[in-house]
Amino acid sequence: MRILFIGPPGAGKGTQAKKLSEIMGIPIISTGDLLRENVKKNTELGAIAKKYMEEGVLVPDDIMIKIVANALTDLDSFILDGFPRNLAQAQALDKMLENLNKSLTHVIYFDIDDEEIIKRLTSRRLCPQCNKIYNLNFDPPARDEVCDQCNVKLITRDDDKEEVIRNRLRVFKENTYPLVEYYEKKGILKVIEGKGDVGEINEKVRKILL
Ligand code: AP5
Repeated sequence: MRILFIGPPGAGKGTQAKKLSEIMGIPIISTGDLLRENVKKNTELGAIAKKYMEEGVLVPDDIMIKIVANALTDLDSFILDGFPRNLAQAQALDKMLENLNKSLTHVIYFDIDDEEIIKRLTSRRLCPQCNKIYNLNFDPPARDEVCDQCNVKLITRDDDKEEVIRNRLRVFKENTYPLVEYYEKKGILKVIEGKGDVGEINEKVRKILL
């Protein structure tokens, strides 16, 4: 299966991708995670990406397309989270897959309102070691702001400040939302209501895929 998750920031794409990957053993390509890893390691790519990410705007297409093309080459199945984010990236993805004689099998759009997003993202925490995602309101760790698995202090993403979240939402509506129509026209789009319990949403995702 070659699955694409689309949705605004905080829609639950990363949470569902991890759950699905655990259940089905399909690898995840998350461009956000890849960029954050590079920022953490202070690579050349990380230094370029950092300033865009901190503002909540898109990293230039040529950089992103190269990263994804490299990541896709050897994978027959994958869950793509965070790419494509605009029409140019979607067309580039079509070409990459065409060259590999492959195509997307499922595109799932997580539909969710802005207020729920702000609520979720201002209370999101992340383990800097294993990248497990928590939420202080909806999915807290057992001990106050410490990762259940790694026992290290959880962190807040730099782009989870309210003013940056609002900017990311604007970028999503202008650049990424048009992809809903793009994939609808291809006949592979399914829409899921993103509000609700993590388990409930996972059920809906699996129902589409299985
Ligand atoms: P990226 O990391 O892709 O961020 P995003 O798309 O904005 O998505 P998020 O990771 O914020 O949200 P999510 O939907 O994964 O939600 P999550 O599951 O964590 O990108 C970051 C930046 O990198 C971009 O702004 C850009 O600069 C750059 N970038 C990345 N890809 C790019 C590209 N292709 N081109 C250009 N630039 C690119 O859940 C959120 C919270 O809610 C968590 O706390 C979670 O525990 C909680 N939660 C999840 N599900 C539920 C639920 N059902 N109920 C209650 N709480 C829930």
